[in-house]
Amino acid sequence: MKILGISAHYHDSAAALVVDGVPVCAVQEERLSRRKNDAGFPVGAIEWCLDSAGLEPSGLDAVVFYERSMLKFDRILTTALRAFPRSWRSFPHAIKNTLGEKVWVRGIIASHLGIPRQKIVFTDHHASHAAAAFLTAPTRRAAILTADGVGEWATLTIGRGERRADGSTAMALDREVRFPHSLGLLYSAFTAYLGFKVNEDEYKVMGLAAYGRPTLKEQVRQVIRVLPDGAFALVPAFFEFQTTADCSYSSRFVDLFGPPRHAYDPIDLESEDGRRFADCAASVQSVLEDVLVGIAARLRRETGLPDLCFGGGVALNGLANARILAEAGFDRVFVPPAPGDAGCALGAALYADRLYFRQPDRDVPDHPFWGPVVDGAQLARAAREDGQDVEELSDAASIERAADALAAGRIVGWMEGACEFGPRALGHRSLLAAPHDPAVRERLNRDIKRREEFRPFAPVVPAEAADRYFDLPAGGARLARYMSGVFPVRPEWRPRLAAVTHVDGSARVQVLERGMAPRLHALLEAFGRRTGVPVLLNTSFNVAGEPIVTAALEGYTTFRRCGIDVLVAGSSVVTRRAAAPAPPKESGAWSSNSVAASTIA
Ligand SMILES: [Fe+2]
Repeated sequence: MKILGISAHYHDSAAALVVDGVPVCAVQEERLSRRKNDAGFPVGAIEWCLDSAGLEPSGLDAVVFYERSMLKFDRILTTALRAFPRSWRSFPHAIKNTLGEKVWVRGIIASHLGIPRQKIVFTDHHASHAAAAFLTAPTRRAAILTADGVGEWATLTIGRGERRADGSTAMALDREVRFPHSLGLLYSAFTAYLGFKVNEDEYKVMGLAAYGRPTLKEQVRQVIRVLPDGAFALVPAFFEFQTTADCSYSSRFVDLFGPPRHAYDPIDLESEDGRRFADCAASVQSVLEDVLVGIAARLRRETGLPDLCFGGGVALNGLANARILAEAGFDRVFVPPAPGDAGCALGAALYADRLYFRQPDRDVPDHPFWGPVVDGAQLARAAREDGQDVEELSDAASIERAADALAAGRIVGWMEGACEFGPRALGHRSLLAAPHDPAVRERLNRDIKRREEFRPFAPVVPAEAADRYFDLPAGGARLARYMSGVFPVRPEWRPRLAAVTHVDGSARVQVLERGMAPRLHALLEAFGRRTGVPVLLNTSFNVAGEPIVTAALEGYTTFRRCGIDVLVAGSSVVTRRAAAPAPPKESGAWSSNSVAASTIA
């Protein structure tokens, strides 16, 4: 069967194609439209998926949308009516959004693709998250946990999945926590309170948490109550997201935590307010972890299963994931590379294949590389036309050239094969640098990423060497496969890994097996031969405010615009020319005029 999965209309739209039970391709719309977190109907992603599989829409057996839009409409309507008249401002906004796109999804899909409406099916939002986590993990039986902001009504679900010997698949989400009680919305309220962008900057709260102490945990526990059965409830008086689209926290929230931070105020960790904000971040982070560990530990006891599959946007929280692994009693915790809503496109397609159409069980390849493939020859052509030095080397020579540059303290743009599905660069669209020098980190921040200083960069290490540099618990390497866990850097290595060690001594490390990205693995070894430490700083290949680069030309224009020293796509290598020496002081206006004249000629 050929099944197209779609997620859209909230944030970060995506499409994924599953053929005969196995993913063929998947991509977020933003990677093609070049609009960050593009939430529009993913026309480009769908077209690319069909093109790359050589399919026409009429060749599809089914198109699956990742949530039930009528149920979501029901939630928005019910919530607005319950809060009326306080919700009168947000109500028209919500209805316009919902009526405009979300409810009429079947018609939108049918008209875009020109397929009969009967071919369009829907999954529950959290079933899509659960399938994205369970059906892509190398396990046959597992407990399942999903947590996000909100889907239709559910915000957190628990259950279990089984891939049976007879080829059938079972997946049951037995219990759920419903809107407005939501760990994702709790975290988002603090994200907004701390002056960051909701649905985009949640990881900044996690980065800031390392600078604070959880001194405000008692206050956070006043806004979220843990119930006797392990579930939780937000106390409505502290929140506004159910009544207005303008602000997610209430004046009582401000009474409890103090004045909020404005987005444009710098965070000065030396000031009293700066420390309060860091303490707020540390406190909500700590409470989030406590609640998740409690739920996961209960799930472990109830199911008796040693594996946990964890999906939903909250599963991007690497600190919480590491604590679940350490404290909830599971041997292994699987978080997919795209646990958020974009990943639901793939989850929905797999769910429909296994559970709706009852197709036989299949192993899903255990990697994140489902997007467009980079063309090294395209890079070489573009660079040559632009008058840059370009070398088309052998595979091995291009790796050695990149390792030389990295060992010399240069920043390397690294493009390889198919791009990653999900928010993280896992070695195919990465900016790489030496891990020891804080000056490199500062240059990356200043010239390219323009990030806040408190945000750490992550390391990548070959699986064989990971334990030497990082304090990984049993199961830690698996969690670190897709950068889903934060673990301590071994104290003796922190000085030599200073650019990738967070202020609290931790790192969101990627543990790389050779088979997943052989060229990056070889590069790490080549760098290790030069420096003695086979670890690199690895951050996503994009500049501030833009999506991660996809095609060679995007990599090249990014390279030309900012301070990347060397660009590698496949085995094509472009090296930035050293700046021309400044002209001698005595050269006057006449000589610069002659330069201008010769340029015109
Ligand atoms: Fe979600």
